[in-house]
Amino acid sequence: AHPELRSLLLSRIRDVPDYPQPGVVFKDITPLLADAAAFGALTEALAAVCVRHGADKVVGLEARGFILAAPAAARAGIGFVPVRKAGKLPGTTLTQVYELEYGSAEIEVHQDAFAPGDRVLVIDDVLATGGTAEASLQLIRRAGAEVAGVVVLLELGFLGGRSRIAPALAQAPLEAL
Ligand code: PRP
Repeated sequence: AHPELRSLLLSRIRDVPDYPQPGVVFKDITPLLADAAAFGALTEALAAVCVRHGADKVVGLEARGFILAAPAAARAGIGFVPVRKAGKLPGTTLTQVYELEYGSAEIEVHQDAFAPGDRVLVIDDVLATGGTAEASLQLIRRAGAEVAGVVVLLELGFLGGRSRIAPALAQAPLEAL
């Protein structure tokens, strides 16, 4: 994104120390969402990424990813597909299990969410360890679609998410705004 847009967006993200557990600094995007100018500019920037990558569909990752991805998809004139935590989607789903620091998690997508060969852009608020994004890319491929890229508002570089998702991205780009 343009440096002025980036500094506007970053100025509206609040660091919350020791949430949800001691030693973690939570990136709270609610001030950004509540600021019409900042949220509008973010939506425009994400929609421009959709257009630039020739995306046919946008995937948002539950829950905060939905808030960013859905308006961007609508603005770009393409469809939105939710990737949800396990057990939330009513139709036939594909499930992907991924490893967390302690234990594992599962996310799902509807099996028929994409047309064959659709180019799919994944949007989320934060790339941390990359586990969620990596699993979403695996779901997209298993559902018969292509990965157009991943775009996040914030990349927490010290957690190594970029290298974790590199194999799943193949040659597709990862952008942080
Ligand atoms: C957060 C964030 C990303 C993910 C990043 O979601 O919104 O989706 O974690 O972490 P990772 O790169 O280590 O996988 P969270 O699971 O907290 O869900 P929420 O948006 O429903 O609060």
